[in-house]
Amino acid sequence: MGMKRPIAVFDSGEGGLTVLKQARELYPGEDFLYVCDSLHFPYGHRSLAEVRGFFLAILGFLLEREPKAVVIACNTATAAALEEAQRQSPVPVIGVIEPGVQAALKATRNHKVGVLATEATSRAGIYSRALKARDPEMTVIERPCPLLVVMAESGLIDGDACRHTVGSCLAGVLAQGVDTVVLGCTHFPHMQMVFEEMVRGRAKLIDPGLETAKIMSGILPQLSRTRGGGLQFYTTGDPLEVARVARQLWPQQELEALPLHWRGMTVIDPSRLHT
Ligand code: DGL
Repeated sequence: MGMKRPIAVFDSGEGGLTVLKQARELYPGEDFLYVCDSLHFPYGHRSLAEVRGFFLAILGFLLEREPKAVVIACNTATAAALEEAQRQSPVPVIGVIEPGVQAALKATRNHKVGVLATEATSRAGIYSRALKARDPEMTVIERPCPLLVVMAESGLIDGDACRHTVGSCLAGVLAQGVDTVVLGCTHFPHMQMVFEEMVRGRAKLIDPGLETAKIMSGILPQLSRTRGGGLQFYTTGDPLEVARVARQLWPQQELEALPLHWRGMTVIDPSRLHT
C-alpha cells in the first residue's frame, strides 16, 4: 500500500486529528495511518465494554498493516481498552491518558485539577484514580462535556455557540478552584483558541494529545524528523462527509478519506476484497 510500517492513530471520530497533527509536526518523516470509527461515533455515551469491543476489532485491522506502534488518540477508548490492547499487540500501544496525567501533575500548584471529558471517561474515573495515586493531596473535578464533542465533530470550533459551551464547561470546574484543566477528550483541542480565550489565564490548559506526541520519541526511538512522510485516512463512516469536516478542522493538510466496512465485529478494507 505504499507505506512502510506506519504509526497507526485511532479515534472514534475526528478528535484524534489533534493528536495526529502534533505527531506529524514532530515526526514529519514518519508514515501515519489514521482510522476513525465514525459509524459508531460518539463513543462517549456507550459502556466501556462496548467501546472495548469496537476498538479491539479495529486493532485487528491496524495490526494487519504492521504498524510501528498504535496510538489510541481517544481518551474514551484508552480508558476502555488500553490494557487489553497492550496484551494483544506485538507493537507498542500508546494511550493519551497517562501523558495527560503526568503533565497535569507537573502543572498544578494547588493540587486541584479539572478534567473535561466524555461521559464514559468521566464515569470510568480513570483520571481521578491516576492523579490521586500519584498525589494523595489531589482533588479532581471531572466533568462530562458531550455537546463539545458533537460540535467539534461537525466542524464547529469557533463562534458564539462554541464560546458559550466551552465557557459553561470551564465554569463548572473553575468554580471549584482548579488551577489546571485537562482537555480529556481529543476533540477539545480543536477548540484550543476558544479554550484559551475563555479561561483567561485562570488555569493552565493541558492537551494530553500533545503530551502523547512528545513522549512517542521515547517509546519509539529514531522517529524521522525529516519531511516526506505519508498519511492515509480511513473511516467506517461516509468518507466524503468525514473528509469534508477534516479539511475544516485541519485546513493546512490535504485529506481524502477511504472507506472501511464493519462485517459483524470485523473491520474490512473493501479495496482489498477480491469478490
Ligand atoms: N475523542 C474521544 C475522546 O477522546 C471520544 C469522543 C466520543 O466518541 O464521544 O474521548
